[in-house]
Amino acid sequence: MALRIPRVIPSQITPPETYLNRRAFLAGAFGAGAAATLGSAAAAVIPAQAGAALGYRYDAAESVDALVHAPDQNEKPNTWEQITNYNNYYEFGVGKTDPAEYAGELQTRPWNVAVAGEAEVTGSFPLEAFMKPYALEERIYRFRCVEAWSMVIPWVGFPLAQMLKRFKPTSRAKYVAFETLYRPSQMPGQREPILQWPYREGLRIDEAMNPLAFMVVGLYGRVLPNQSGAPLRLIVPWKYGFKSIKAIVRIVFTETQPETTWSQAASGEYGFYANVNPDVPHPRWSQATERRIGNPFFHERQATLLFNGYANEVASLYKGMSLHRYF
Ligand code: MTE
Repeated sequence: MALRIPRVIPSQITPPETYLNRRAFLAGAFGAGAAATLGSAAAAVIPAQAGAALGYRYDAAESVDALVHAPDQNEKPNTWEQITNYNNYYEFGVGKTDPAEYAGELQTRPWNVAVAGEAEVTGSFPLEAFMKPYALEERIYRFRCVEAWSMVIPWVGFPLAQMLKRFKPTSRAKYVAFETLYRPSQMPGQREPILQWPYREGLRIDEAMNPLAFMVVGLYGRVLPNQSGAPLRLIVPWKYGFKSIKAIVRIVFTETQPETTWSQAASGEYGFYANVNPDVPHPRWSQATERRIGNPFFHERQATLLFNGYANEVASLYKGMSLHRYF
């Protein structure tokens, strides 16, 4: 399958009102030659021709009511080069440029996603069938790594909530767990005991149902490159980046809290919740500030925001829980 998609989406930040205005989104989604004729107003949709090449569907916009957040307009998205050359993806090594250097070897087709556990609909789905029901949208989110660097990234994907509903989790499903591909022949990092492979992550079901939680297949209107987690990854923008698992092959609905890779590796440092919180330091460094990748003033840092700036949308999920419950 041809995976090279020309970049059509304008690189400038999309004004929040574009996302929040249903009419504008629909015009973008359905308008003939939308990207060309509507200019930046159409930035919320990946161009139809790109979707067709991927087998993705654009003729529905069920998700437009979801709350979508662009960061403050003064925050420019990072460039494609920055986003795809400064990565954490230990399956390809621990260096920030290792994924860009080595992930090209990974074959992302054919690709299957298995769905199991406490759900009415389970099974193994070829990626094309898995993706078929979803209309793609672009969302520009802040991304905050637990290592205290950050970016602003225009992802393309669909709400995780839509996917969860399709599999009809039973009343026993309290969590959803995700697993990355295990293929040491193409993922050299997996030949070393750096982490317990495969990489695993999870969310509480209500967190996963929050409209901000997003399944990602693209970046800047192009197909997601391997180093960014192709062909399918999770983005949870109010949590530290390690929750945003890449190259997903398995999704399991569970009754109990699933094991997650970083908590297994260092339970005193990385917890299940991992909500961005400037007031709760990592045991070895402060989380009060962050370094925005690409900032020409290398030593300049900016304040980290509670829930990475998405408190209005997600704080209610943690009512009654101490916000200091970093773990
Ligand atoms: N997913 C897998 N499978 N393997 C990883 O090593 N690293 C996590 C997360 N998802 C990781 C992963 C961490 S620590 C971060 S900060 C983000 O991916 C980095 O995403 P990016 O490289 O797209 O910026």
